[in-house]
Amino acid sequence: MSDFDTVRAETRAAVEQAADPAALEAVRVAVLGRKGAVTDLMKNLATLAPDARRAYGAAVNALKDELTQLIETRRAELGDAALAQRLTSETVDLSLPARPEAQGRLHPISQTIDEVIAIFGEMGFSVAEGPDIEDDFHNFTALNFPEGHPARDMHDTFYLPDAADGRKLLLRTHTSPVQVRTMMNQTPPIRVIIPGRTYRSDSDQTHTPMFHQVEGLVIDETTHMGHLKGCLAEFAQAYFEVEHVPLRFRPSFFPFTEPSAEVDIGCSRKGGELKIGAGDDWLEILGCGMVHPNVLRHCGVDPGRYQGFAFGMGIERIAMLKYGIPDLRTFFDADLRWLRHYGFVPLDIPSLITGLAR
Ligand code: PHE
Repeated sequence: MSDFDTVRAETRAAVEQAADPAALEAVRVAVLGRKGAVTDLMKNLATLAPDARRAYGAAVNALKDELTQLIETRRAELGDAALAQRLTSETVDLSLPARPEAQGRLHPISQTIDEVIAIFGEMGFSVAEGPDIEDDFHNFTALNFPEGHPARDMHDTFYLPDAADGRKLLLRTHTSPVQVRTMMNQTPPIRVIIPGRTYRSDSDQTHTPMFHQVEGLVIDETTHMGHLKGCLAEFAQAYFEVEHVPLRFRPSFFPFTEPSAEVDIGCSRKGGELKIGAGDDWLEILGCGMVHPNVLRHCGVDPGRYQGFAFGMGIERIAMLKYGIPDLRTFFDADLRWLRHYGFVPLDIPSLITGLAR
């Protein structure tokens, strides 16, 4: 056997036996490295007659190319095998249940907002949002609260230092300013709900300085009070998960709606236990009305053509009613024991199809 054949045969055997990239690299160095077998063959060049050198050199180079190719092919094979091995050993079983040690709970406020969104989403509403720091125009003026009107004082507003451009800044006292932002940025038909934080300088057993509302706004050419009532009835039934919830509209006043109403739902308080939907008692849950033409005008919407309704509901209030939470202030205590008791499993996403809450 020539030296060439020996090197070729030994290299083939060694490459085949190399079980991992490190072993293969050792073979490469032993064959092609500076002190390797092929380099040794090349050294014989000096001992040859000049006219034999060219053919010999070409033969060594051809062998070198052949063995390089052999090693690279094997390297690719080993890489594929390693990848295949990793893919089988590192698979994730997506059908496994959630980790049992997951202790986190969703706050009842988050849960309630998700439920409200699921219900109105099914009715074709989308969600809009606005900033917590508002200005006087969006929170009051555009909503038809005239300058110096007593209704402004009823809101117990937290004022902030004026903005650089002179705007009077405040923490929004309701989610209604997002009605204004929505109407200024969209053209009717509009159908949105607006959940979010609201602020009033008020603190007692039934009031906290920060609380949550969800606003509803529908604007098109024909929507009337009947639609408002139907929409709220549908909501009350879906949210409280009872067949029929009696609704009572009491005349009220808001500067930004005309006519305005406060809405009560029927309930019973027999034996100290609150039951929604039955009995002869009433519970107030929201304020609403037909959007005032002045508001439409302030937002660049033509009141000769468009009309619609708005409503605003307290999130904490409807959460307390549905989940039997007796004290408003506990919502904001960040007490883990309370959260574990009243909280919700985050992976149970409310939907009208799979159920609102489990
Ligand atoms: N913004 C009112 C409040 O906070 C509620 C409301 C919203 C009333 C929309 C009518 C229409 O009391």
